[in-house]
Amino acid sequence: MRSLVLTTLSLSALSLAFPHEYDDHELNQLHKRNIIYNGQIAEAYDFVIAGGGTAGLALAARLSEDTNTTVLVLEAGDTGDAVKNSVDVPGNAYYSSLLGSSYDWKYMTVQQPNAGNRELPWARGKILGGSSAVNGLYMVRPSKLEVDSWASLIPKGDLWNWNSLFPNMKKSETFTKPSAEIQAAGAIQYDPQSHGSSGPVKTSYPGYIVPVVGNWTQTLEDIGIPRTPDANGGESWGAFIATSAINPSNWTRSYSRSAYIDPLPFRANLDILANSTVTRLLFSPINSFAPTTAPNLTASQVEFASTADGPKRTVNVRKEVIITGGAVGSPHMLLASGVGPRDVLEAAGVQVNVELPGVGQHLQDHISTEVVWKASTDTAASLRGGSVTDLPNGQSSPFLSFINSATAYANSTDLFGFDFGPVYRKNIEGSLAEARNMIPSQYEEVKKGYDAIFKATLDLMATPVGQVELLLSLTGTAVGGDQSIAIQAALQHPFSHGRLYIKSPSTFDPPVIDPQYLTHNADVVSLREGLKLARKLGETAPLSASLVQEISPGPNVKTDDDWDKWLAGAIGTEYHPSCSCAMLPQELGGVVDAELKVYGLDNVRVADASVFPIQFAAHLQAPVYGLAEQAANIIRSKYNGVPLPSATTVAPPSATTTLAAQTSTPPEKSSAVGTSMGIQQWYLVIAGVVAGAFSVLVL
Ligand SMILES: *[C@@H]1O[C@H](CO)[C@@H](O)[C@H](O)[C@H]1NC(C)=O
Ligand SMILES: *[C@@H]1O[C@H](CO)[C@@H](O)[C@H](O)[C@H]1NC(C)=O
Ligand SMILES: *[C@@H]1O[C@H](CO)[C@@H](O)[C@H](O)[C@H]1NC(C)=O
Ligand SMILES: *[C@@H]1O[C@H](CO)[C@@H](O)[C@H](O)[C@H]1NC(C)=O
Ligand SMILES: *[C@@H]1O[C@H](CO)[C@@H](O)[C@H](O)[C@H]1NC(C)=O
Ligand SMILES: *[C@@H]1O[C@H](CO)[C@@H](O)[C@H](O)[C@H]1NC(C)=O
Repeated sequence: MRSLVLTTLSLSALSLAFPHEYDDHELNQLHKRNIIYNGQIAEAYDFVIAGGGTAGLALAARLSEDTNTTVLVLEAGDTGDAVKNSVDVPGNAYYSSLLGSSYDWKYMTVQQPNAGNRELPWARGKILGGSSAVNGLYMVRPSKLEVDSWASLIPKGDLWNWNSLFPNMKKSETFTKPSAEIQAAGAIQYDPQSHGSSGPVKTSYPGYIVPVVGNWTQTLEDIGIPRTPDANGGESWGAFIATSAINPSNWTRSYSRSAYIDPLPFRANLDILANSTVTRLLFSPINSFAPTTAPNLTASQVEFASTADGPKRTVNVRKEVIITGGAVGSPHMLLASGVGPRDVLEAAGVQVNVELPGVGQHLQDHISTEVVWKASTDTAASLRGGSVTDLPNGQSSPFLSFINSATAYANSTDLFGFDFGPVYRKNIEGSLAEARNMIPSQYEEVKKGYDAIFKATLDLMATPVGQVELLLSLTGTAVGGDQSIAIQAALQHPFSHGRLYIKSPSTFDPPVIDPQYLTHNADVVSLREGLKLARKLGETAPLSASLVQEISPGPNVKTDDDWDKWLAGAIGTEYHPSCSCAMLPQELGGVVDAELKVYGLDNVRVADASVFPIQFAAHLQAPVYGLAEQAANIIRSKYNGVPLPSATTVAPPSATTTLAAQTSTPPEKSSAVGTSMGIQQWYLVIAGVVAGAFSVLVL
């Protein structure tokens, strides 16, 4: 066994002696997972993937399918083998979370003036598998309307329209239907046609459903938000029980490592190196692959290190560097490599290699908070009773696969009403001149990018696409303990954009993260109306039968003003940062083109949630897997003669999904909302109008 492994290994271009004798376990790991445990790698690879997270490992598996292509993955975090139980058991996302541990980057935002002057935690997975190893497992796809909106923002955008992304999201998954019991217990609806059946990521529903989940979609229907028969086929709005990244063969988490890497046989052309933080890309001006007078720089090496003061190592790049560090890590690596806004790079003491004002800009996140009740029925937390061994009905493993997945996406009518929705949208439209001035960039192209994203976001408000996500949380709350139930509300399409930048050239120093939460007051209004819907849900049968008393924010929060003050001090991230290396034209502050190539660089792509130019009403891992699959298609078609699959023909969604703008004429009072008014005052006017409009609402 041992000698076999060693022989195979020597094929992976290692002529170096092993520094120490490996035990069988280590060799077995090495053999099975292509993970390098001795730090020894080859001098050069065709592709160096910077970041072994959700997208990075998916790409590594796909690119190394071509046996004549060598692939190295550099991951800053450890393998995760030491915390397997926390990763693998779905419920442990809540009960034994890795957030706050050494497997979390533990980023913090800078003080957020509109969110109670707080510095807020921004957890991101620092482990093989990235955030897919530590997240809440939701597999919720964006809608066709949103994906097509993204595609419309970039030349050659057809690579990313729904007809392209949908088959790639399907390609990434194998869906398993719930059992009849689980389906009935959760009132679950799905259409297998919208799912994949042979992809690496296993998706399904938990093996145990807390009974109150079965009341979710009915209660939403009772307040006018219909059930969604198929949330995965391009119309992911309304109420549904989401699919999760669960492997139902043993009720474990399916994440990018367990899905794409662990099942692989040993591949001599794939090496995965953990504990390796990319410090920068090194460029050579000579373009060895298309020797022309190309002004674009070629990344010839990637530099990395295990610790801030440890030795730096380099690896040579034969073809490309693919940056997959996520919405924080990817712009961070580019900035440290001298690719970004000149003002930021100069202030940080980094030599400017490519002036690209959009790096770290257009940063968008979902923010959320919750209404909490004392529960009169069992919750997942109360059933578990703090124990992982003493479980009801002996259902240890299926029970611990329970994770929250009851969700609903409320559209602008649900939030603002048929009459006021269009007026409200018109009011937001009038705020653009002021809103673009709040964009933290001195570069006009970044502001032009904001204009484009703003318009796309506004157009989506006129459609059934969700503006606020509502989530049923049964895993215990900080204020109410195990015997409490929360309904969370999360803003999906923010008008507030922030940025991320560096103050130091070292990627071991965290970047400065300023999401500028709630700077555009449309976000305050939307989230507040979402929270009101959350409260209303909790007060509506059949769900209300399980909820005894609201404990947070409680009866003292009644008026719009009360809500706004309270939510400013309560919101936090829904862990969905994106858009920080936006796929937009360069003149709109874009960072990558439709082929994911970084402007000004000859052989560097970014392929993760940082390239989405707009936020989606979705959880990000499902579209990120689809993006990684399509990125692999694009790259393999360029280098390995694997033709780009043509977008499969997908049945067009029903007529209700057109982007047609609503044409209702705004009532008189909207004309009182001038654009010269300060944004703060502007929103107070809106708030007044919303409050008025709500008296005529039937929800
Ligand atoms: C990564 O570093 C940690 C801490 O030094 C160590 O325990 C672990 O074995 C390393 N992992 C690998 C794959 O080398
Ligand atoms: C809904 O709620 C009722 C009463 O709280 C409960 O008996 C029932 O089992 C729940 N589930 C479904 C699927 O209706
Ligand atoms: C769960 O099953 C998959 C096969 O479907 C396997 O690869 C994985 O190792 C199993 N996980 C655990 C923790 O047993
Ligand atoms: C929001 O959903 C409701 C209920 O399905 C629907 O009647 C309404 O037209 C939708 N709103 C928009 C703006 O599409
Ligand atoms: C430089 O790269 C851009 C894409 O980033 C590409 O459009 C352009 O053709 C390249 N220039 C040359 C001379 O190769
Ligand atoms: C690599 O292998 C693929 C088939 O997997 C082949 O089509 C391609 O021509 C090869 N590329 C090179 C550079 O040898």
